[in-house]
Amino acid sequence: MYTQTLFSLVAAASTVLAAPSPRPRVNRADPKCPIVFDGRVPLNTAPTFFDTSATNTIFNPDFVKGNDLKWSQILKFPNDSSRFDGSKFTAVEVTLSDKSIFQKQNGFRRAGLQFSKDAADGEGGKGVKTLHWSVKQDAARPLNLTHEYLNVWHEAADFSNNQIQFQAGSIIGKSNADKNNFKILDRNGNSLYSVAIDKKQWQNFALKLDYLKNQVTIYYSAGTAELKSVAGPKSVNLAGGGQFQLGILKKPTGSSDVVNTGYQSPNLNEGQIYGGFFLEDSADGCVSL
Ligand SMILES: *[C@@H]1O[C@H](CO)[C@@H](O)[C@H](O)[C@H]1NC(C)=O
Ligand SMILES: *[C@@H]1O[C@H](CO)[C@@H](O)[C@H](O)[C@H]1NC(C)=O
Repeated sequence: MYTQTLFSLVAAASTVLAAPSPRPRVNRADPKCPIVFDGRVPLNTAPTFFDTSATNTIFNPDFVKGNDLKWSQILKFPNDSSRFDGSKFTAVEVTLSDKSIFQKQNGFRRAGLQFSKDAADGEGGKGVKTLHWSVKQDAARPLNLTHEYLNVWHEAADFSNNQIQFQAGSIIGKSNADKNNFKILDRNGNSLYSVAIDKKQWQNFALKLDYLKNQVTIYYSAGTAELKSVAGPKSVNLAGGGQFQLGILKKPTGSSDVVNTGYQSPNLNEGQIYGGFFLEDSADGCVSL
C-alpha cells in the first residue's frame, strides 16, 4: 500500500516536472473585471501619438501640462512594465522641467494625464469602481521630497478639492516625518494608508471607490506580487463627481498661495514612472488582484 502510494506520487511528480511550462514564470496578471477607462500604453506607441486628439485616444492631449510643452517632450518610455501591463503594454514616465507651468499657475510644476473618456459627471465618479496604478522611481530623475507632491487623484467637478489623493514628500502644514512615504489621503487630508517609497521595485496600488456607500478600500503589493487589501473599507466622502489625474503636481515651498507663488528650485529634472493605469467596474465586487 505504502509503496504503491509512494510510487504513484513519484510518478505523478515526474510527469509534472517533465511537462513544458505553459508560460514564462513572470508574475504578471491581466485585469479580470470590465475595464471602464484604460490608460495603459501599448508597446511601441510613438511619443507624438500623445500630442493631438487626432491620434491620442488614451489621454486628454491638451491637459494638464506646461503651456509650451508637448506630451512627446514630457513623457518617456522606460523599457519596463508593471504587474498589469502584461506583454502588450509599457511603462510611461511623466517628467517635470522648469517649463512645466500650466496656464498661470506659477507656483506649481505639473504634468498630469487624464483618461480621454473621463468627464466631470462621467462614469468614473459613479457606482463602484477600482482605480489601478503602479509606480516606480527613476534614479536619474528623483523627486525632491522636501516638497509636497500630488501623484494620483480624483478632483471634484467644481475643483474645490480632491476626494482622494495619492501623495509623496512633505505635506505642507504637517510634520515631514513621513516624507519618504507614499500617502493616500481623503479630501480633508486625513490619512487612509501610507507606505515607504521603494527606490527599486514597482509598487502597485488599487483604490476601490464605492460612490454609493462613500467607502474606500485600498489594495497594495510590491514587485509583481498579487495585491492584498491593506485598508478599509473606510468611510470617505466621495461626492462631487470630477475626474482622475495621474502624474506629478509639485507644490512650491514658502507660500500660502501655492498655486500662484512660492519657491521651486531651478533646473528641474524629475520623473515618476507609471504602469498598469486603468479603472475597472467593481459593481459586482470584482477587483483585479
Ligand atoms: C527591453 O528589456 C528586455 C528584457 O528586460 C530586453 O530583452 C530587451 O532587449 C530590452 N529592449 C531594449 C530596446 O532595450
Ligand atoms: C529640494 O528642494 C529644496 C526646497 O526647494 C531646495 O532647497 C533643494 O535645493 C532641493 N534639492 C535638490 C537636490 O534639488
